[in-house]
Amino acid sequence: MLWLSEFSYFFCPSRIRLSNARHAGSTRCLPRLRETCPGYDRKGETKPANAYLERPATLSLLPNVQGDRILDAGCGAGHLTTELTDSGATVVGVDVSHTMLTYARPRVPTGEFIQADLGSTLPFPDNSFDGIASSLAFHYVRDWNSLLRDLRRILSTDGWVVFSVQHPHADFEEYDDSVNYHETEQVTATWESFGMAVDVPAYRRPLSAMIEPALDAGFQLDELLEPTPTEAYREADPVSYEYEATHPNFLCVRLLISI
Ligand SMILES: C[S@@+](CC[C@H](N)C(=O)[O-])C[C@H]1O[C@@H](n2cnc3c(N)ncnc32)[C@H](O)[C@@H]1O
Repeated sequence: MLWLSEFSYFFCPSRIRLSNARHAGSTRCLPRLRETCPGYDRKGETKPANAYLERPATLSLLPNVQGDRILDAGCGAGHLTTELTDSGATVVGVDVSHTMLTYARPRVPTGEFIQADLGSTLPFPDNSFDGIASSLAFHYVRDWNSLLRDLRRILSTDGWVVFSVQHPHADFEEYDDSVNYHETEQVTATWESFGMAVDVPAYRRPLSAMIEPALDAGFQLDELLEPTPTEAYREADPVSYEYEATHPNFLCVRLLISI
């Protein structure tokens, strides 16, 4: 699975450009991708789908984090971590990818970064964080019941979770082999933007399979956004803007602990 963690970063932001196949073939060319694409960690700063669609929506769901201790779950190269620290939070970033953490550390020198798998029990005691933020990482985790229970465990009693994922309707439309919306299934996107095919697995699930594990773990749904692109997106990429303005791409959610 190491290759997934190293390369999944490319996947979401370009998702609508991908040719998708649930049972796609080998993971050929993976070692070369990083070598041939230096600086890929910077793409998240400027890609319109990130910078002018998903990230503003996710940030809009955050409460005031000044002085709070926040977990950035699936922090990648540290883009969301930067926003959180700039807003006055103390941030711990976790990511399964060692490579991503090597990008995140210099980007956010004040952050603490730990290699950890969101699919396993996280290496933190109970009540460790005031809030948990996660941008475009949860759809790589198979078991959301365990994930949400563990996030609830490490949160303080008035804590919150803000996360974004790929939109369930978009996933169902875009994965060619998906025939039953109501199933949770492993899917594979073949990413071709760098002139070579890279297969990246993730988990496609219906909306109910995103919300029910959260409710079962002791959260309440506080807000849900299906973001549309900002004007800055239109200026940066007018053609994609028209598509993004009329098709759901991301889902952004705020959970609070149930009283
Ligand atoms: C699309 S990137 C998003 C990165 C970052 N949150 C951002 O907004 O720029 C997804 C990240 O999730 C990480 N990831 C994937 N599966 C993971 C897992 N099981 N545990 C922790 N991180 C994971 C990947 O390594 C990658 O850095």
